[in-house]
Amino acid sequence: MATSHASLDGPEQSVQRIAVALGDRSYPIMIAADFWDAIPDEIAAEVPDLTHALVVCDEAIAHRWGEPLSQRLSERCRCDLANVASGEVSKSLEMLGQLWDWMLDKGADRRSVVIAVGGGVIGDLAGFAAASYARGIRLIQVPTTLLSMVDSSVGGKTGVNLEGGKNMVGAFWQPTLVLIDTSTLSTLGDRDYRGGLAEVVKYGVIDDAEFFAWLEQNAAALLNRDPAAVTHAIRRSCEIKAAVVAADERETSGRRAILNYGHTFAHAIEATAGYGAFSHGEAVAIGMSMAARLARSLSLVDDAFVTRQDDLLAAVGLPRSWPDAAPEEMIPVMKTDKKVAHSVLRFVLPTRIGQVELMPCEAIDLVEAAIVECR
Ligand code: GLY
Repeated sequence: MATSHASLDGPEQSVQRIAVALGDRSYPIMIAADFWDAIPDEIAAEVPDLTHALVVCDEAIAHRWGEPLSQRLSERCRCDLANVASGEVSKSLEMLGQLWDWMLDKGADRRSVVIAVGGGVIGDLAGFAAASYARGIRLIQVPTTLLSMVDSSVGGKTGVNLEGGKNMVGAFWQPTLVLIDTSTLSTLGDRDYRGGLAEVVKYGVIDDAEFFAWLEQNAAALLNRDPAAVTHAIRRSCEIKAAVVAADERETSGRRAILNYGHTFAHAIEATAGYGAFSHGEAVAIGMSMAARLARSLSLVDDAFVTRQDDLLAAVGLPRSWPDAAPEEMIPVMKTDKKVAHSVLRFVLPTRIGQVELMPCEAIDLVEAAIVECR
């Protein structure tokens, strides 16, 4: 569904809406370009009793996005702004504690609303602060990176890292609203932008062969950030994610686990390469390459599948290999994956373009071989 808003200078802008259908916790994802100034109106329309906004923003984009948004919101309600240092290091218990103290200091109560402005780190951290403060207050996600627009801002996964494990403490806490202004991608660097495309490619592989073919046709346009192509890619990714989340909100049936295609390898790549060596999206691209090869060795897919996926990842500027990949270091990390059941590794593996399955794999030699193939 598309609505329009006329609160901007110039012609009316089209706002696309996607519903995340979760009964009384349903919410819309709104996608538009150049609607930053209209965001307070959209928030007020969805949250008519807004009296106190707690904006949590990545400090790297505070000047461009967080401060103007807080300024506009403060014309409507009490508004406080916290800027958080960029990077995975902020997804910590220490930073969470600082946010709780800040919220208390600012007089936050159960009617306050947390507004997360930034990428996945900010969304996960501020989301968990909202989930846990006063036993849970409302949350609005305003993602400003491609990866957070197509993945982490939708579906309610929030949390922080422990020293020994990524995302080990958290909660499912659905936002009230997700607002995607594609213009915010103008402040995203090329490497992070391409990282987001890894998750976009993932949606084609896991659920939509037609979308995969569209991505093949439009790889150059996406790489060049063509606005129409970018908006379509975000919209289709969000539609797929919304449907998966609606079917399996808490990842209990196995359906939601398909969103983790490539991620078991990716988390081990990130952990053994040292956090920061690869972006999450780059690690997911290499992880999907490893998963495709594991699937091929199990006769689930053929060479043509692997070639098509490799070619698309290459066309959008993503890596498919890591010369230092070490199975003996990666596999112990993979054994700590949340999908491990009764000590057996489980992988999301493709059976064709547009379809994957969650399945156990006890053949560690094949897992090792898939890693080595991507060196
Ligand atoms: N990023 C995977 C999920 O939301 O389930």
